[in-house]
Amino acid sequence: MAVERLQKILSNAGVASRRSAEAMIVAGRVAGNGKTLDTLGARADPEKDEITVDGTPVLRERYRYVALHKPTGVLSTTSDDRGRPTVVSLVDIEGATLRPVGRLDLESEGLILLTNDGALTELLTHPRHEVPKEYLVAIDQPLGKKGRERLVRGVRHEGERLKADSVQLVSPGGSSGDPDPRWLLITLHGGRKREIRRMLSVVGRRVVTLRRIRIGPLALGTLAAGSSRELTPEEVEALYEAAKAERKQSRGSMAAAAEAPGMAFPHPHPIAIDGPAASGKSTLARALVERFGYVLLDTGLMYRAIALAALRAEAPASDAGACAELARGGLLRLAVGGREVRVLLGEEDVTDLLRAPEVEGAVSDYAAIAEVRRELVAQQRLFAAQQPSVLVGRDIGSVVLRDAPVKLYLQASEEVRARRRGEQAAEWGAQQSASEAGRDISGRDTTDSTRAASPLVEPEGAIVIDTGELDADAMIARAIEAIEERAT
Ligand code: CDP
Repeated sequence: MAVERLQKILSNAGVASRRSAEAMIVAGRVAGNGKTLDTLGARADPEKDEITVDGTPVLRERYRYVALHKPTGVLSTTSDDRGRPTVVSLVDIEGATLRPVGRLDLESEGLILLTNDGALTELLTHPRHEVPKEYLVAIDQPLGKKGRERLVRGVRHEGERLKADSVQLVSPGGSSGDPDPRWLLITLHGGRKREIRRMLSVVGRRVVTLRRIRIGPLALGTLAAGSSRELTPEEVEALYEAAKAERKQSRGSMAAAAEAPGMAFPHPHPIAIDGPAASGKSTLARALVERFGYVLLDTGLMYRAIALAALRAEAPASDAGACAELARGGLLRLAVGGREVRVLLGEEDVTDLLRAPEVEGAVSDYAAIAEVRRELVAQQRLFAAQQPSVLVGRDIGSVVLRDAPVKLYLQASEEVRARRRGEQAAEWGAQQSASEAGRDISGRDTTDSTRAASPLVEPEGAIVIDTGELDADAMIARAIEAIEERAT
């Protein structure tokens, strides 16, 4: 990070707005490395200098950057509920919470970056601005020139186009010597899930070992599996430069699209998904936000939160005024964390309470109240206008986002949905048989589709997917195909 104006550093750190930071500076309250900085032109380096306000350090965390050689069998996530080792557990940097930049499959090894610098993470992981990465790959059978060229032209797998920038033969293990047709050096920009394994499976090859050896300007070098090192400032600078250069290149080709408001993303948004209970909406929505880098708002959680608040306040659904007041009062708040939204009541994050049987049984009655809906619909529209998003619910394509460029409507028989919900209930920690789940679902279905206010309907112009006949991957592939068609 470069030297910056003091007021910018303070406002970036969330200490004060730019204007009040300026007031603090001229009042002599701000110091850099113990020396008072009281002019508005003063600059500092937020990484190297200790900035204080009234003697208290304000930048608690400095940016740290670590290169790790991830061994196979280690997850590239921050934590794991099954207690398996993660890349974060292999790196011990005092006083900083590092997160992996992108991912590397469980069975793959090699270079992965960890940092607490959100700006660099954002740059390096944005689908349009990824730097090229190199992988050393051993496969089960030799791959001839034709096969290698196919990978560079691009192949389709489950509705996605997978493409390498280059595929070269190298000697075993990447050492110098004669090239071996079972050892490939693959360069690609993408970072799709299991991309290399999937593209090789299309040409009939199985990956035996896969090691990432370069991310843009940064090479794995001789770092042993399981060990890590901090990057030098020059290496960090080079990563920033490489990511920005990618950005410039892709801007050139998408200049017109990037300039038009609301079109800065290559895919259409917002995406509306509707359907009855347990029709597959959440599974599909999660896959889409991952794929396109959007944010998911599950509007069912908002209705559930209002139901929870009403139950706590002992306000029955027949008291529409009191329930609308709960929806209106600023009590319900949305917090974007990663790709999904969590729901707060006041300061309390209630997201994990919203599948409780009391809520499940009551939500549809509260969701049928027109004034409650009006309030929540306004919040949902505002949300969709603020970031590229996927909204999931019952009335998204028909009411909330009537003009959405992509509307999906999922359906499946009641029997299939009851079975799915029974299985999910166990995951959510509730004990519910398929028949109990079936009763809950069919009760809600009836209320949802017969109510006067925004009943569940198939929205006009929606792409209808019957998920009863499809497994999750096939459903996702079908939706992505439809979306890509609309994008072109
Ligand atoms: O996950 P599941 O499909 O079972 O339910 P949900 O999406 O969490 O929605 C719970 C309930 O909220 C639904 O049964 C509807 O009564 C209501 N809801 C609604 O009326 N409008 C929405 N846009 C979303 C949910």
